[in-house]
Amino acid sequence: MALIIWDGRYSVGIESLDWDHIVIASLINHLDEVKQHHGDEQTVAAIVRALIRMAYEHFAREELLFVRYDYPELHDHRREHRLLEEQLEELYAAYQRTPDPEISREIMELLNYWLVGHILKVDKRYAAFLAARVR
Ligand SMILES: [Fe+2]
Ligand SMILES: [Fe+2]
Repeated sequence: MALIIWDGRYSVGIESLDWDHIVIASLINHLDEVKQHHGDEQTVAAIVRALIRMAYEHFAREELLFVRYDYPELHDHRREHRLLEEQLEELYAAYQRTPDPEISREIMELLNYWLVGHILKVDKRYAAFLAARVR
């Protein structure tokens, strides 16, 4: 799996949001590392939970800034977040019923591919707008 190695290209110009992206990318890498070394599924589950929680908190932090600064693309951006949350919820519910390594892999891959695309395409769209307003 191609992992996310955060670098300057991913920067959205707001330090606190970059930090979130760095932490989420690091958690994805960490999860991959544990899976590659055949870590037990209990360990995997703990990282999956941390990852999902971080993603949700991050979306909330972005949306708070959108509301505060009246970001014109708030609704479309929000919809993207909700779509990922729905997919995550579905997978996570399945994972809780059957803590299968295949499902934790799906969660990791979903977050990995989604995050790269989302930061580069959707998050980047707010970069200039917020960077000019957030101090
Ligand atoms: Fe983001
Ligand atoms: Fe976002």
